[in-house]
Amino acid sequence: MSRPRLIRPVTSPFDSSVRVPGSKSITNRALLIAGLAEGRSVLTGVLDADDTRAMAGAIADFGAVVEADWEAGEITVTGIGADPIKGPLTLNANQSGTTGRFLLAIAVTGTGAITIDGDAQLRDRPIGDLADALVALGARVETPSSTQSMPAVVHADGLTGGEVALPGNISSQFASALLMAAPRMLNGLSIELTGELVSTPYLDMTVEVMRAFGAEVSEVPGTGFVVAPGGYRACDYHIEPDASAASYMLAAAAITASTVQLEGLSSTSIQGDMEFAEILAQMGATVRHHADRIELTGPSQLIGVDADLRDFSDTVPTLAAVAAYASTPTTIRGVGFIRNKESDRIEATVTELRRVGIDASETENGMVINPGPLQPAVVQTYDDHRIAMAFSVLGLRNPGTRIANPDCVAKTFPNFYRALDGLHPDREPLVVVIDGPAGAGKSTVAKAIADRLGLLVLDTGAMYRAVAHSAITREVDLSDWDAVGDLTKVLRIELDGSTVLIDGADATQVIRTAEVSKAVSIVAANPRVRAVLKNQQRSWMVAQGGGVAEGRDMGTVVFPNATLKIFMTAAIEERAKRRAAESIDFDYDAAVADLQRRDEVDSSRAVDPLAEAPDAVVIDSTNQSVDQIVDHVVDLLGDLVRP
Ligand code: DC
Repeated sequence: MSRPRLIRPVTSPFDSSVRVPGSKSITNRALLIAGLAEGRSVLTGVLDADDTRAMAGAIADFGAVVEADWEAGEITVTGIGADPIKGPLTLNANQSGTTGRFLLAIAVTGTGAITIDGDAQLRDRPIGDLADALVALGARVETPSSTQSMPAVVHADGLTGGEVALPGNISSQFASALLMAAPRMLNGLSIELTGELVSTPYLDMTVEVMRAFGAEVSEVPGTGFVVAPGGYRACDYHIEPDASAASYMLAAAAITASTVQLEGLSSTSIQGDMEFAEILAQMGATVRHHADRIELTGPSQLIGVDADLRDFSDTVPTLAAVAAYASTPTTIRGVGFIRNKESDRIEATVTELRRVGIDASETENGMVINPGPLQPAVVQTYDDHRIAMAFSVLGLRNPGTRIANPDCVAKTFPNFYRALDGLHPDREPLVVVIDGPAGAGKSTVAKAIADRLGLLVLDTGAMYRAVAHSAITREVDLSDWDAVGDLTKVLRIELDGSTVLIDGADATQVIRTAEVSKAVSIVAANPRVRAVLKNQQRSWMVAQGGGVAEGRDMGTVVFPNATLKIFMTAAIEERAKRRAAESIDFDYDAAVADLQRRDEVDSSRAVDPLAEAPDAVVIDSTNQSVDQIVDHVVDLLGDLVRP
């Protein structure tokens, strides 16, 4: 599994253009049909991803000739035409649901023993209704009896076709599979879809691609389809960009008040997921349709929606990520069937929303999301590409969002992170530093500035405290500079803006005890400790792509080229009063004396003493509210933080 990936937040609105890769759903339909067609087809705009490589591999395995230039998105396929798929043969769909289901229906039109299998995740996904429909048509299909899932073994001898009924509420992939197999049946096929239909746009897409390759399909309104026999004829087919992949780019612009141009997609698209743009419009985004692209601009404030996503359910996690930033709750309905996707997508989405601090709850057919403040977190992804991508988008506005097992996006969008980063290109990282004595208000103001600018806080005092705490617990003599310096080198101190981890263990609270506060000034005077922590502080800033650093020597020593340097002060009486708020047995005179002692220690030590950088802006917080100070800072940054 790949290491968690930190999402770089958007610090100011962008105006970007992007072309997402080809549609997975269209690519896998076109590849399969080209593989069955008479003649040589040229497919362009093909998606290069795990799922499409699975399909390309499978059609080659059943006898089509495949010449792929994946990088150029062009694949030439010479199909098997009227020849049957011949067993004994095993076709492996890996993790790809469309590949496995489509191949199963095609296999029964072949001859001999043909096994359709996939990886462990695909073996967990149902195929029972499809297998039942094929058996009803006279096919012999064996699945593990308890699960009705893959591996499925087909003992094929062609199919005459005729009439078949299939529940429409489980997976439209089953109906699509039957549709695509139908022209290879002797008498064609009449398909009746029973019950409530889900994802009907995918059926329309299947029919569109079949017709492009010469199949005759007529729709019986409200009930199903009639497909004539006769197979497929090769053609040159261009695949549109993937609308589900596009949903992440649209959502990214929607939550950051930015503008994105999605090249190559328009209102004539055959993909149902384009409807997602209309949901964002209902939430307050401005959507413009052009002949060759779609443009979306996010509003300054999104509002929640009540939406039925049964026809474009792949965008449920994306909508959930957007809903976290709305001013009112969002209800998602009609998608109970997505519990059978790569993950239980309702449970996974709700669990991960909660992990980032959002109040969300599952319903039988969807979820309810109550927006609120977010928090940093490592988001779990359940090997589900859509969970990883949706929460990456959420991270654009939630500093400190990390995505576990980020590489699972390769299933459908291998270059996802590059595309997402490309929306808001690198610029000089914004580094705001705040130095000043204890109790001047640095940490409160640093947090407020960071929140306003979408950055994380680097609390360098916490790093010195972490060393002091570790020295105490490991009984290292504080006055032994070399020993404490060596200890600092081996400690793994991690700061994510709110929690402090020492060697992976949460130390946020334990570094605030009186004992640590007393020991820390000795540690902070140790030049070896300072040298090690200084390097770590600089690396942190590079890794985060900017931030708000607070301490004693941020502007003078650690970040001499910071974008903005602030030196915070406050009257000692006020500073003592603030300390009062933090302590239970407060003694005002003792607090003043303690602050005077700490000021003396901090400013008189030999290495990196507390001092005003010559280019620092001095802010006296005695009579100012936090909001006033933040407004002042945003003003000082000017155009750097304005759109
Ligand atoms: O801000 P604080 O009270 O958590 O800081 C703890 C100690 O670390 C304090 O004695 C000052 C010292 N310190 C330092 O020397 N240099 C920094 N950049 C930050 C803190």
